[in-house]
Amino acid sequence: MPSSWIEIDLAALRHNCREAARRLGERTAIVGVVKSDAYGHGMVPVSRELVACGAKFLAVSKYWEARELRSAGIGAPIIVLLGLEREDVEDALLEEVRPVIFRIDHARMISETALGLGRRAMAHVKVDTGMGRLGVPWEDLPRFLDETSTLPGLEIEGVISHFAVADEADKAYCHDQVRCFESVLEAFRERGIPVPYAHISNSAGVLDLPHAHFQLVRPGIMLYGSQPSSELLQPGDLRPVMTFKSRILQLKSMSAGRPVGYGRTYVTPGLSKVATIPVGYDDGYSRKLSNRGVVLVRGHRAPVVGRVSMSMITVDVTRIPDVQPDDEVVLLGSQGGERITAEEIADLCDTISYEIYCNFGKNRHKFFMGGVEGI
Ligand SMILES: Cc1ncc(COP(=O)(O)O)c(C=O)c1O
Repeated sequence: MPSSWIEIDLAALRHNCREAARRLGERTAIVGVVKSDAYGHGMVPVSRELVACGAKFLAVSKYWEARELRSAGIGAPIIVLLGLEREDVEDALLEEVRPVIFRIDHARMISETALGLGRRAMAHVKVDTGMGRLGVPWEDLPRFLDETSTLPGLEIEGVISHFAVADEADKAYCHDQVRCFESVLEAFRERGIPVPYAHISNSAGVLDLPHAHFQLVRPGIMLYGSQPSSELLQPGDLRPVMTFKSRILQLKSMSAGRPVGYGRTYVTPGLSKVATIPVGYDDGYSRKLSNRGVVLVRGHRAPVVGRVSMSMITVDVTRIPDVQPDDEVVLLGSQGGERITAEEIADLCDTISYEIYCNFGKNRHKFFMGGVEGI
């Protein structure tokens, strides 16, 4: 038995995928965003489940992630959000992986390689409608299309953009971005370039911006059971997918005035029971949780006392009855009637749930439960 492990509830993942689908009209399909190991949830099993649940496309950041999906036998169309490196283009095209394009030189290089293979690359053009990160700035689109739309090895399968503030309550800027995106699509129409798939919505767009669904939506975080933020106007009915567990490695009675951990930042205020748990910042449990984090033991909340070290934390269990060595400890998830959410941990670490999932998900021991049999 590992000293700490992650449990992934695939039934909850399916529930969340259905919750996304429920928000969509008939002409809109889901791109399951499974980059960064499906936000730490395990890219291959999660992708299998999402495809079985009806996701039409998958999206990853980098080509090697797409290759891993293909090696696992997943045949669904995959969009590579950061585009392709020169050395990967040939393999990617043979595997029918879809590059996102945003640079004229990339578009030319992909077209040439595709022609050499006797194929056409199915590309998604990324347009920056106001995020200011990746994509052709919308003002530069005419020149981009002049240079790329007649490239013989390229077929435009999609046009993609990304929201900057869809998770905030004030949607004014999102509406500006949608208007800009619509004018971008109009520019394609005027040039007679068909766009089978337009997509701009992330989870917040799926939930709060029904007029921005177009032909595809790209939910990530909602599939994993978290609201994109606490400001959503129409939050989803979502179930957490990830649980992070460990066991008590040692249980100690300590008299008053005894220091706990590096730096002696905590000193027992009275006769105390302190449990040592074999989880530390190497397992993604941030050092910012020193003297701030909370775990669950026997269905009760137990505070982290002292500093989080590389592979251990110490928690105060003085007030919890019957605690024993080897008792299960929940660092994320529920036990008894209590729950610790990724949002609660993220608040303590001054970050967002996304980062908590990615960090915990690096744990090498991952167990998948509730999968659909036979896939
Ligand atoms: C381009 C792109 N689309 C979609 C998503 C999914 O966003 P979310 O997890 O907020 O649904 C991301 C995530 O960062 C992204 O970078």
